[in-house]
Amino acid sequence: MLISVHDLETVVRAAGAIALAHFNDLKNLAVNKKSPRDFVTDADVAVEAFLKAELTQKYPEYGFWGEESGQSADQSARWVVDPIDGTHSFSRGQYFWSISVALEIDQELIIGAVFAPALGDYYTAVKGKGAWKNGSPISVSSESHLADAMVATGFACLRSYLPDNNLDRFARIAQSTTGQRRFGSAAMDLCLVADGQVDAFWEQELNLYDVAAGALIAQEAGATVTDFQGNKGIFPKQILVTNGKILDQILPLM
Ligand code: IPD
Ligand code: CA
Ligand code: CA
Repeated sequence: MLISVHDLETVVRAAGAIALAHFNDLKNLAVNKKSPRDFVTDADVAVEAFLKAELTQKYPEYGFWGEESGQSADQSARWVVDPIDGTHSFSRGQYFWSISVALEIDQELIIGAVFAPALGDYYTAVKGKGAWKNGSPISVSSESHLADAMVATGFACLRSYLPDNNLDRFARIAQSTTGQRRFGSAAMDLCLVADGQVDAFWEQELNLYDVAAGALIAQEAGATVTDFQGNKGIFPKQILVTNGKILDQILPLM
């Protein structure tokens, strides 16, 4: 069945209302740890259960892959969902968290939505058609000097077990740029590049559900998505997203 951005928006906004109800009642939120630095709350589980039920009932031809419930049905054409990206921020009452939903068919991203309910920002994109924030078209920044750039990164929750923990890379890039941010939601980080609010974002050890929707939104807004060597494509274990103009300057620092 053909999916319109509007049909998807209705479902994602309803999921946002479920998340917000929990966000506005944090003292009753059950927060558990999946591993020492990886959180899951009642809200993550409830939002994913809603999205899975709605999307698989409305679009039975597509399978589902969500962070909390795993993979079910056909995985060649599937919804890729992070019910709350930025759970740690969410659980502390901070506003930077989002719901991320993408449709992927034969390894190609077709449509993506990232909704930040506490900020009131809804980002979406359709392959080959562009990217929008709250209904208006968006595009990447025009910054062409790395020295003047504002960049964002994240530190995967598994970092302490990794030989490369991103700290050296962050130090190198911080010394070569004007502004550095750590927002705490990779899906949102990608949308901020798409919207020209930051000029580049990178992170390691992410999963496809963290970046699928945001990467399509970034690409459709004119961003270049590569790995740390500059190979084009979406590589969640090593993702670098830039406005394209500073790519050659940031790559040697990666
Ligand atoms: C996390 C966020 C965060 C990133 C972590 C992710 P979660 O996702 O995207 O910004 O630094 O690596 O795991 O666990 O809140 O869905
Ligand atoms: Ca995530
Ligand atoms: Ca999550």
